Amino acid sequence: MTKSEQIQQQFKELQITTTQSLQGTYQTPSDKSISHRALIFGAIAKGQTVINRLLPAADVLRTKTALQQLGVKITTTGEQTTVEGQGGFKFKQPQQPLNLGNSGTTTRLFLGLLAKQDFPITLVGDASLSQRPMARVVTPLQAVGMKVNYLNEFDQLPLTILPNQHLQALNYQMPIASAQLKSALILAALQANQPSKIGQLAESRNHTELMLTQFGGNITKKQHHLQVQPLTQPLIGQTMTVPGDPSTAAFLITAALLLPNSRLTVTNHSLNPTRTGFLQLLEAQHAPLKYLNKTTAGEPSADIQVENLITPLKAFTINQENLGRLIDEIPIISLLATQTVGTTVIRDAQELRYKETDRLHVVATELTKFGATITELPDGLHITGPTQLKRPSVPLDAHQDHRIAMMLVIAELLIGEKLPIAGIESIAISNPTFIKDLISLLKDENK
Ligand code: S3P
Repeated sequence: MTKSEQIQQQFKELQITTTQSLQGTYQTPSDKSISHRALIFGAIAKGQTVINRLLPAADVLRTKTALQQLGVKITTTGEQTTVEGQGGFKFKQPQQPLNLGNSGTTTRLFLGLLAKQDFPITLVGDASLSQRPMARVVTPLQAVGMKVNYLNEFDQLPLTILPNQHLQALNYQMPIASAQLKSALILAALQANQPSKIGQLAESRNHTELMLTQFGGNITKKQHHLQVQPLTQPLIGQTMTVPGDPSTAAFLITAALLLPNSRLTVTNHSLNPTRTGFLQLLEAQHAPLKYLNKTTAGEPSADIQVENLITPLKAFTINQENLGRLIDEIPIISLLATQTVGTTVIRDAQELRYKETDRLHVVATELTKFGATITELPDGLHITGPTQLKRPSVPLDAHQDHRIAMMLVIAELLIGEKLPIAGIESIAISNPTFIKDLISLLKDENK
């Protein structure tokens, strides 16, 4: 059975009733962003990198397979993945185009990683990835020497990175707060002839900066600028354990807050401050969360105990100030906002139109089917609650977007009825165990 068929099968087995709660311990699946970066840094470092609990999801497998096509030896045994580092950006010419599937992170980071190779490399992706913007990364890299040929349309995959021997230093102010763009620029800056300066509009997740430092690179942050030193000697392979992904945990945290009688412990949740925007929204309203077993080294983490809300939360405000810290949580926060009191305002979020789907539009369309009061704005959403969600009368569609699929499953828990979801199998992109985990954590006292 393929991963997609497994998920469809598990979704068939999932039972949803009106009297369920979430009970028990949820081992948060590993962080997707950190998993990609661990493989990439492992590939360019000298010596072995040992990654415990690499996320075994489709997007991360794309990074792993593409690196293998570039000649990097990567093996996985149980929960341990070992990368044999190349000791630099020394790759082999791939025999085939690199197929990056649905993975925007792989594609953007590879544009920086592969900006200075002496052979051509073609990058291709699935239908959704082939519509996502790439010029945000390609254009600033072309300005410092990278050469790219768009094979169909400007700004989109498929494209070929042409042979190039030289990268100048970057001195670039990023026009959007994107960690993928930032990470691509940092990976290119490591290969430049001089130190680079990269200006940030607003803080985005900083896993690349943390990992580069851990591997022995030199990156410093002064106010809104990053200063990156080119590598004069190879990075050094590391051993690490990937913490849990906050963007994944948010789905079950939301379900536990909303399903009566729930009590869930979410273990190993990342507390990296560039990722905790959702928790901060909850804490500001004293939601029933308890932090246990906090660790502070490297990527900080904790176990989080969540209980269901006794009184509903108030509406949220999301804008440039906090958006970067919760960008991937917007679909599930939108669902939660249908149950909060007042109007949640999400602004400055045009970037969501360029994710796996146009998430502003798809969230508004799908939640409207449940009777939510939701209005799409050019750069955000207005969601007024609380609304008693109702059974949709038209079919649900995740549009092959994993975070929309998970949002729809949680919405079905709230109405207490399971309905078909087109594209449910896209959950494999970031969270192949989502349905299986739900099955084991859902308890029904009446059964
Ligand atoms: C990611 C950054 C974010 C996020 C994506 C993963 C990363 O995208 O939405 O899921 O790993 O760098 P942008 O950087 O484009 O905002």
